[in-house]
Amino acid sequence: MEGNIVYSAVQPSGNLTIGNYVGSIRNWLKMQDEYACFFAMANMHAITVRQDPAELRRRTLELAALYIACGIDPEKCTLYVQSQVPQHAELCWVLNSLTYVGEMERMTQYKDKAAKHADNINMGLMDYPVLMAADILLYQTDLVPVGQDQTQHVEIARDIAVRFNNRYGETFKVPKALVMKQGAKIASLQDPLHKMSKSDENPNASVFLTDDRDTILRKFRRAVTDSGSEIRLSGEKPGISNLLTIYASFAGKTTEEAEREFEGKGYGEFKPAVGETVADALAPIQAEQKRLLADKAYLGGVLAAGAERAYKAARKTLSKVYRKVGFYQGD
Ligand code: TYM
Repeated sequence: MEGNIVYSAVQPSGNLTIGNYVGSIRNWLKMQDEYACFFAMANMHAITVRQDPAELRRRTLELAALYIACGIDPEKCTLYVQSQVPQHAELCWVLNSLTYVGEMERMTQYKDKAAKHADNINMGLMDYPVLMAADILLYQTDLVPVGQDQTQHVEIARDIAVRFNNRYGETFKVPKALVMKQGAKIASLQDPLHKMSKSDENPNASVFLTDDRDTILRKFRRAVTDSGSEIRLSGEKPGISNLLTIYASFAGKTTEEAEREFEGKGYGEFKPAVGETVADALAPIQAEQKRLLADKAYLGGVLAAGAERAYKAARKTLSKVYRKVGFYQGD
């Protein structure tokens, strides 16, 4: 069937931000009834920058609980931990031989991370997009819902799929990125020209999904705004545009509706309203995540079942790949 498989993942590499939620996880919810969805915790990607092992293990489980708390239904979707499905690493190795060092060196995220972690520019960091291509291609994915910053990686996954198909014959479906018009790039609250990131050193720049109400309100109160007093979406008003987008996303409105709602009102009224809306939306998710984390047996069961389903699907593609490239697989 055409157009029926969705794949996405998040790295359990730090506290998730509202950018991860709005740009990614939130958009998965609508897809679970219409598509066969695979949602992973990308722990193999996470170790391309240094991680504390105990923390990585804990965050992986927290991320699983968060997916479910956000409304991902493990009965409808396949939720699993990337490292529990060995075919990701195996396919990555095959795809490495079809990928050029030069194209990896040109990846924006690689360049950013290499500059930030100059003492740890490891092979994994450079290979990150190939592992991501393996993730996506293993499941014969049609659509990859991601934020703006990941579109370049989905493009390279497409290129690699086409390259493989041209060399070895039709094997992979060629996936497409699905990027929402609203919320695909939530900016830092302190520097609205840059994306909000899990690893920002300024604690006021990012709102984390685990932040309590007071912290959320404080961060929005301190958010950088622009000159003037009008609350409208505009290239000249990156700070206000970002806050409007965040507000609209959490209130379930369009940015046009949000603009109308705050017409004639000032920043002093607007900023606390954004904070309240985000805090209200996150409170039930946080409570549900906490409840799920107390039930380790349930979570363990979900992840074991997910890994098994993912394994079966991945094995099919990998065995086809091995046949195409001429790997001996027994008689
Ligand atoms: P990660 O964990 O860095 O980001 C997870 C998702 O959040 C989106 N995102 C944002 N969206 C809007 N505004 C922001 N400020 C913002 N920051 C992050 C990202 O675009 C992403 O969709 N490499 C992936 C994880 C991955 C993956 C995959 C994704 C591994 N394998 C296969 C899709 C398909 C990543 O960046 O995760």
